[in-house]
Amino acid sequence: MVEPLRKNELHNQARHWSRHAAQYDELFLDPYGRNVVNPLWEALAAVPDAATKTVADFGCGTGPLLPYLVERFARVIALDFAPGMLKRAGDRLGPQAASRVTFFDRPMHDLAEFAGQLDVAVAVNSLVMPDVRLIDRTLRAIRASLKPDGQFLGVVPSMDAIGYHLMLLMDQSLDQGLAPKEAQRLAALHVERRHYDFAFGHFHYQGLRQKFWRPFELEYRLTKAGFTSTTLSKVLYPWDESLAGGAALAGFPPSWDWFFLGRL
Ligand SMILES: C[S@@+](CC[C@H](N)C(=O)[O-])C[C@H]1O[C@@H](n2cnc3c(N)ncnc32)[C@H](O)[C@@H]1O
Repeated sequence: MVEPLRKNELHNQARHWSRHAAQYDELFLDPYGRNVVNPLWEALAAVPDAATKTVADFGCGTGPLLPYLVERFARVIALDFAPGMLKRAGDRLGPQAASRVTFFDRPMHDLAEFAGQLDVAVAVNSLVMPDVRLIDRTLRAIRASLKPDGQFLGVVPSMDAIGYHLMLLMDQSLDQGLAPKEAQRLAALHVERRHYDFAFGHFHYQGLRQKFWRPFELEYRLTKAGFTSTTLSKVLYPWDESLAGGAALAGFPPSWDWFFLGRL
């Protein structure tokens, strides 16, 4: 028998995300950083007549994208299932800018009231619920929330980049003369391999359970949800202290997350 989607899991994860809101910036890679190459900016800048359009930031978190969206779009919706995150997003904006944003405390698959109304939907590192049935449902809901010429863009955490990082660290140790087993052990320690399930693309850390993505799955699930045209490209993170052993890897091509753009 197919197990139904568990409501508890949603509440449980929403609670953990709320709990992490306070120290969010210390724990998570920042895709908006000055030295990060993020195709999201160009894609948002290319939206024609944004000043007449409606954008939704799904899984807005602490709201790092909201100030930009408020400046550029006519109407801004910010949605998250973690009240602690929404509170921080409101604080970040301040009362005046926050009054121009409509906040929704709810999960991303619960979008019936937006059906066919959005010009642009954005989800940056928020398509992360580990149950892929919920991911599929969320993608279908986002698709249904868009106008016929609408677009869905965002970023998902990359599972393949973790493998890349692991490989570089291991090779570095081998080059220094370590035995393969020791090189493997050290690399695994640095990337905190114990938090990842590579086969199924899961990450778990202090109660949070997150989905990590490979590009073929992103294309597959966007298509499955009814997006007919999808583009993927990399968000490039420089090797620096935000990545374990990063400074020593500066000579290698950067690490990445996956940027996507889907149209109906
Ligand atoms: C990694 S944070 C990213 C936040 C923000 N988009 C950013 O770029 O900083 C993920 C956010 O998505 C929210 N989230 C995850 N799954 C969600 C779901 N199914 N429905 C609503 N919010 C969700 C979490 O509460 C959290 O605030």
